[in-house]
Amino acid sequence: MNNKNESEPMTTATNDTSQQERDDDLFSITPRHPDSRLEADWLFLYNKLPPDQWFDADYAYKTSGWLKVHTNIRKRQRILMQISDAYQNGEFDWSEYRSQILKRINMHTLKLHQHHGVEDEGFFPEFVSLYPQLQAGFEVLGHDHEYLNALLDKLQIQNDALAKSEGEDKALAKELHDTLFKVTDLLQQHLTDEEDLVIPILGLRQS
Ligand SMILES: [Fe+2]
Ligand SMILES: [Fe+2]
Repeated sequence: MNNKNESEPMTTATNDTSQQERDDDLFSITPRHPDSRLEADWLFLYNKLPPDQWFDADYAYKTSGWLKVHTNIRKRQRILMQISDAYQNGEFDWSEYRSQILKRINMHTLKLHQHHGVEDEGFFPEFVSLYPQLQAGFEVLGHDHEYLNALLDKLQIQNDALAKSEGEDKALAKELHDTLFKVTDLLQQHLTDEEDLVIPILGLRQS
């Protein structure tokens, strides 16, 4: 009997906690990518400045530069996939495919390598020094850069081979298509997670 009485307040307290957690959940915002790697502990700034406020007048002058760079990366990647799809579907012949894709891949890999370098060597260490509790989150993004850079190196090697292949090489085009697809997949997840972590830092900092 005593045991039961002793256990009742605990049960009530546990229920209170669970109820509180459920209430908090109703107001917490989840990261945007369905397979986001961002953990709840890293989202304290995201909850203060959620995506629907990123373009408000108080924040846009601090957030839009980063978002615009990402918009351009997504756009270039989308165009590359469209060109590769067009060849794979038979809409482009070999000559049209090569003339459309060769220079674009060169530009894209160069710009992405530069972008990752600026983040790895400049912005990410700066953000971690401002918010050491986000270090693990920025390590996830840094590892993404390593995977992405390896994929981009592979893409560049395939593109260099394509530049030399005046005769049609369907196997090479298919390999390049598969690499592009992997880059698209990882970029979608990476850019979205990065924005969810970085944009609130930029928007909320005093500068
Ligand atoms: Fe990045
Ligand atoms: Fe980025």
